[in-house]
Amino acid sequence: MAFVIKGGTVVNADISERADVLVDGETIVAVGADLEVPAGAEVIDAAGAYVMPGGIDPHTHMEFQFMGTVSADDFEWGTKAALSGGTTMIVDFCIPGPGQSMVEAYKDWRAKSEKAAADYSYHLAVTHWDEGVFDDMAAIVNEHGVNTFKHFMAYKGALMVEDDVLFHSFKRCADLGAMAMVHAENGEVVAQLQEDYMGRGMSGPEFHAYSRPPEVEGEAANRAIMIADMAGCQLYIVHVSCKEAHEAISRARAAGKRVYGEPLIQHLTLDETDYHNVDWDYAARRVMSPPFRPKKHQESLWTGLQAGSLQVVATDHCSFTSEQKRMGLDDFRKIPNGTGGLEDRMPVLWSKGVNTGILTPNEFVAVTSTNSARILNCYPRKGVIRKGADADIVIWDPEATKTISASSQVSRIDYNVFEGVELKGLPAKVFSRGRLAAENGRVLAERGWGTFVARKPFPAPARALATFKALTAPRPIAREHGTVVP
Ligand code: URP
Ligand code: ZN
Ligand code: ZN
Ligand code: ZN
Repeated sequence: MAFVIKGGTVVNADISERADVLVDGETIVAVGADLEVPAGAEVIDAAGAYVMPGGIDPHTHMEFQFMGTVSADDFEWGTKAALSGGTTMIVDFCIPGPGQSMVEAYKDWRAKSEKAAADYSYHLAVTHWDEGVFDDMAAIVNEHGVNTFKHFMAYKGALMVEDDVLFHSFKRCADLGAMAMVHAENGEVVAQLQEDYMGRGMSGPEFHAYSRPPEVEGEAANRAIMIADMAGCQLYIVHVSCKEAHEAISRARAAGKRVYGEPLIQHLTLDETDYHNVDWDYAARRVMSPPFRPKKHQESLWTGLQAGSLQVVATDHCSFTSEQKRMGLDDFRKIPNGTGGLEDRMPVLWSKGVNTGILTPNEFVAVTSTNSARILNCYPRKGVIRKGADADIVIWDPEATKTISASSQVSRIDYNVFEGVELKGLPAKVFSRGRLAAENGRVLAERGWGTFVARKPFPAPARALATFKALTAPRPIAREHGTVVP
């Protein structure tokens, strides 16, 4: 089935132009002014609207088993929520359970995501180090279409890995043409601060935030950057929430290191005062790691998006219900960490970023879609409106308005951290591989429509500074003692 989107402004990351878009089947087959309508093709009017690549959320957790419970949105409802807000692809974190191998976890995730309504890809988590992990990483990259490996520097006693694991794994990533990712927080310091507060009877959700100050994130970001550099590995830092971590990334990039940073829509727009709310539930629903920060950090994050020192906006969508949050009523350490936001990411970023004049529509497309496709290596299949790309398309109505409310959301949780936020600019129509998947927030896509997006290893030069460093690699000095004569 073919259709032409007529009369809109096509907005890509690099350029906006008045153009029509011809779709045949699942693919964009032409983009240009005044395209002829093929016989039998439907015409979709986009006058006054922007025609943009479908959003990519590079960081989600569907039916996530974590902190003794499982998050509410599974692949079906998570991707439906995504589509309702203009996001046509998610990249989910595949995290092996205790004793489970990476390849087993990957197969588990493939099974769980068969019900997805939108396209998806994965990052694989490295939770320990041994020969099995070493071998599995090669299988994951070469046979299973995943080129990114996640490392948790926090969650001591659960997912956290030490520096030796980071160094082993980062070197392996470099060898395989993969990219390392980190959750950057110093888990040892967090654990001590948590114990200290709890020991003094300070058990409320605000102490979740106080036990994870920006310094623990800045330290871990700097450490991961240096370890990645020594390993010759490119690095992606997830959920960058504060000035300290952003500055570490910015410095690294200025020094020529391939380091990327991902702020979340939550950290860009919500702040630490949410934890001061006298309603325990209100505060606990906003418990995530890293926590919401004092407002001054937001300026640093927005500036990073403008300057390009931060490249993508994600959600870390992790949907724990109010009831699940209450597991931590007497101890903030037991409040499941995570917040939702998948369906609100693009509309909130548009209202708070584009309508305010901080970002151009092109920059909006870059940080919600194109940059993720490029950085994660699925461009130009995803992330762009052009001939040959998947027909993941959003027709964006800049005049449409809505007030966010949990009562009308697609996500299965009972609250919304953006409750009451007024939006101007919404997706009117969302196409997933050529099919109308959502219209004015209403989801039409079916369970199971989504497909796995395999991502190839990165080309050799993208493996950070390995080539550059090889040119100046240490050489042994020929001498009588302590000598290696080449
Ligand atoms: O609080 C969070 N972010 N929960 C999800 C797990 C993670 O750290 O990404
Ligand atoms: Zn070792
Ligand atoms: Zn994390
Ligand atoms: Zn996460």
